[in-house]
Amino acid sequence: MRTIFVTGGAGFIGSAFVRMVLERESDVAIVDYDALTYAGNMENLAGVDDTRHTFVHGDICDREAVLAAMPDGCDAVFNFAAESHVDRSITSAGEFLRTNIIGTQVLLDAARERGVRRFVQVSTDEVMGSLPDDSDEYFTEASPLQPNSPYAASKASAEFVVRAAQETFGVDAVITRCGNNYGPRQFPEKLIPLMIANAMNDEPLPVYGDGRNVRDWIYVEDHCAAIWLAYEKGRSGEAYNIGARNERYNIDVVTAILDLLGKPHSLIKYVADRLGHDRRYAIDPAKAENELGWKPSITWEAGLAATIGWYRDNQAWVDHVRSGEYREYYRKMYGATLA
Ligand code: NAD
Ligand code: DAU
Repeated sequence: MRTIFVTGGAGFIGSAFVRMVLERESDVAIVDYDALTYAGNMENLAGVDDTRHTFVHGDICDREAVLAAMPDGCDAVFNFAAESHVDRSITSAGEFLRTNIIGTQVLLDAARERGVRRFVQVSTDEVMGSLPDDSDEYFTEASPLQPNSPYAASKASAEFVVRAAQETFGVDAVITRCGNNYGPRQFPEKLIPLMIANAMNDEPLPVYGDGRNVRDWIYVEDHCAAIWLAYEKGRSGEAYNIGARNERYNIDVVTAILDLLGKPHSLIKYVADRLGHDRRYAIDPAKAENELGWKPSITWEAGLAATIGWYRDNQAWVDHVRSGEYREYYRKMYGATLA
């Protein structure tokens, strides 16, 4: 039995990863370490009752707690834990720097102390900045790191502390850089679940700027599969860009959601643009395809329909995460009160 240490496993992507590994890999046990911030939610792990899954409540910046939870000689650390929302990083960057940079350093130090074989850093395409509108340029692994938001800067910095651990101490590490994920259990501060939840409640859908920013969307399970392959087959010291060749204008994503829910386009409300709003992300995933043998398996049409279906079927989850802190966040962010 191999043991892996997964951080952020109660979040959107981390919980999908935990489910995937338990389902597919019968010889893997997981220690799932999460601070349960506003974005972490034990409901995301509902139904995960496998004896191979152990949940530990803790902060990745807490060195003693990390060392206590990380088993000696475990095979890998997968670092999903992060502050992940760009808008929140614009309002207040401190927690992003603490969790995303200091937390990564603490995990790297602990991994060395515990003799972990491989460190997988879950990074993002946003570290590479923004591409020009309507160009045929793509992010590749050779693209310079040019982060534009405090969130992206913290994730780029995390990549640098991983690199430093490799160069200085010979830590075996791989980095994955994925584009925009969507799927079940995503916190509704992000575009797709926010638009689904608002549309389901007949509330306005706030589109930033001219709605013509481009994101490269991937279904969360395809991202998780790529992370697993990077762990199993990736070359130490390498980064892998992960994307499904699925660029979309924001406005087209929003209208597709309204159409699938049978709601009117009149719910769309253009609002002030995000500060420093990256114009376009587009990933060239050729290296992951060629070296890892990865390719996405879920089309945009199937993935979006499945996502909307999940939110429709899980109204209690939606109502729960939209209560409390979220209502206050929404009021400050959008100047509107949720019904
Ligand atoms: P999320 O915000 O849904 O979940 C983050 C999780 O990390 C939560 O469970 C939270 O409780 C936990 N966490 C936060 N701070 C912590 C701390 N100090 N100690 C321990 N746990 C902590 O995020 P997500 O969308 O699932 O993203 C997961 C990872 O994937 C992040 O590293 C993010 O940068 C990266 N990523 C996300 C996307 C995307 O589109 N969502 C794309 C590429 C990369
Ligand atoms: O590209 C990968 C990144 O994708 C991840 O690293 C981040 O963790 C993740 O949050 C995401 O970042 P984005 O900023 O691209 O995602 P977000 O869902 O916040 O916004 C997607 C696009 O939609 C972006 O152009 C801003 C726009 N938007 C977003 C919200 C929340 C709106 O127009 N209205 C909104 O209300």
